[in-house]
Amino acid sequence: MYEQVSHSLLNDILDRLKPEIQRSDLRHFYTRLGANFYAIHSLFHYLYGQREDFDEQMVKLVEVMASRYIKRSSELEERDKSRERNYNWFLSQEWVGMALYADGFAGNLEGVKSRLPYLQELGVNLVHIMPMMTCPVGASDGGYAVSNFRDIDPRVGTLDELDQLTDSMRKREMLLTLDVVVNHTSDEHEWARRARAGEQKYQDYFYTFSSRDVPDMFEESMPEIFPETSPGNFTWDEEMGKWVMTVFNSYQWDLNYSNPAVFIEMVDVILFWANRGADIVRLDAVAFLWKKIGTSCQNLQEAHLILQLMKDCCQVTAPGLLFIAEAIVAPSEIIKYFGEDAVIAKECEIAYNATFMALLWDAVATKNAKLLNQGIRSLPGKLDRATWLNYIRCHDDIGLGFDNADIQHVNYEPVAHRRFLLDYFTGKYKDSDARGQPFGSNLKTGDARISGALASLVGLEAALESQDDAAIDRAVKLILLLHSMILSFGGIPLLYYGDEIGTLNDGTFLQDERKARDNRWMHRPRIDWEKAEKRHEHGAVENRIFEGLRKLIAVRKTIPAFADFNNRELLTVDNEHLFAFLRSHPQKPGETVLVVGNFDSHPQHLDLSNLGNRGQFQYGQVQDLASGESPSMFNNQLVVPPFRFYWLTDQRMAGLL
Ligand code: GLC
Repeated sequence: MYEQVSHSLLNDILDRLKPEIQRSDLRHFYTRLGANFYAIHSLFHYLYGQREDFDEQMVKLVEVMASRYIKRSSELEERDKSRERNYNWFLSQEWVGMALYADGFAGNLEGVKSRLPYLQELGVNLVHIMPMMTCPVGASDGGYAVSNFRDIDPRVGTLDELDQLTDSMRKREMLLTLDVVVNHTSDEHEWARRARAGEQKYQDYFYTFSSRDVPDMFEESMPEIFPETSPGNFTWDEEMGKWVMTVFNSYQWDLNYSNPAVFIEMVDVILFWANRGADIVRLDAVAFLWKKIGTSCQNLQEAHLILQLMKDCCQVTAPGLLFIAEAIVAPSEIIKYFGEDAVIAKECEIAYNATFMALLWDAVATKNAKLLNQGIRSLPGKLDRATWLNYIRCHDDIGLGFDNADIQHVNYEPVAHRRFLLDYFTGKYKDSDARGQPFGSNLKTGDARISGALASLVGLEAALESQDDAAIDRAVKLILLLHSMILSFGGIPLLYYGDEIGTLNDGTFLQDERKARDNRWMHRPRIDWEKAEKRHEHGAVENRIFEGLRKLIAVRKTIPAFADFNNRELLTVDNEHLFAFLRSHPQKPGETVLVVGNFDSHPQHLDLSNLGNRGQFQYGQVQDLASGESPSMFNNQLVVPPFRFYWLTDQRMAGLL
């Protein structure tokens, strides 16, 4: 849309830019700036238009975008252009990710580089390296309390080593995801130190208050994120003589996005890492970016506008860069982080599918897919050019963030059901062999989440201890079943390091006083590379899991129907233990894959003649793409063994896929 006010301002801004910017070749930059400027200006004005220095801030923003563009390498610019041409590139089924801590996975960045062949062996071609920017030795929240946004923590490596890593990854056609912790800084960040020393400019980078008046108002409606270790949302800073907002840990100061200087700094930080070779940035805790008295301070409209503005700005400078929204919030809220009322993602192209993750765990505990079916059915449709990050485990706790209405719809009582899940995964429930621990128990609300490694939560730890072969077999099957779901659902599957070899809970964090109070460390392991070697030992647990996953990943990459073009149809089946959906080829609708998983410990059957007009599966000619086998059938009834899954195709089609 052409809009005079913003365009005359744009002309003005271009005249006021620093001479070195004016001298550079900015042809592509200006084209994109022109196309996006109306949106950028409108959003920036909506958020900051009331300020006297609005024009000056607007110039600064454009300067940041232009300076970072000038510094972008020609190689990255070429990549930007090719991604602009092939704009659906990230929806392909060929991407398979893994999240890992550089130190836990391989000691440091150099180690990660030397382990790239291992990831390739598995089929992983997207690596999310957990936060590695400089952070304090002690209070770091696993790297999420950053003290310098533009450098790497010396314990993990250097910027040069990152360059070497990205080089090697590019040659191997692997993508790199990096974290940008946009919501807060460490209290040891320079901005916090200067705020503490009394500089007003930096006190305005945070939410600081002389008295409890405002904090008390906020507290009335704000929930607590870490109620056990960091109750409340404000921390008194003795040296500054003020309260500061600290929604997460008391040493993580929330950034004040009502100050445009903060917004501009953080756009610069994102672009810094984009220029350093990040293909994707994971924007941490995006639901919290805006605060308002009388609200939960999560998912506010302004938080969305900030993300839109970040996206618009980054698209001008580095259009090949994608955003992941880390918003672990209610299903109806998560979907909004793609941006509303659009076909193309206006905020983040990718979002964590926390809903699917939690629902899969529900199916594990209940051994049925009732809530899983209901929860996915209620998940609002997503935009065309946006995709999910599907995962089973990550470095955080598992929140039981289902919709109460969904829980009730399948005839459970929400409080009792959540209690059951907690008891189940912490091993209190009588039939449970799970070895998790409660995380973030809130005595006031009764809420709690769950920590624990995937293998320990599905019973592998208990089974290995008791040397119960049948139980080991069950746990391995469950691990593969869960992965088969995230590999076929639609979106980018994100494995978690260590799960590929059945890594169990790690209790060593208890000996480290800086970690002992945060049991999420029980599932942030150091990879035991001797154990990983066992992946080559036929019949070893590591071998069964690794090989199983390796094959599944390889098969996924050959199935175009698994690309994410909103081409999934959830099936209503009359067997509550089964989760079943169809994936259709985006260009050849006839080429359909029927995915079915049995979460029960008994065999179940699926009546293929009840699949409506999807009759192609009912003639007994089905083949499982995952195993290459033909499943057992009786007439139109398909038998699904305990904890088994199928990726079924009509045999006549199998040759074509
Ligand atoms: C995100 C991270 C989590 C961290 C929190 C605060 O949710 O995933 O690990 O504790 O942000 O930074």
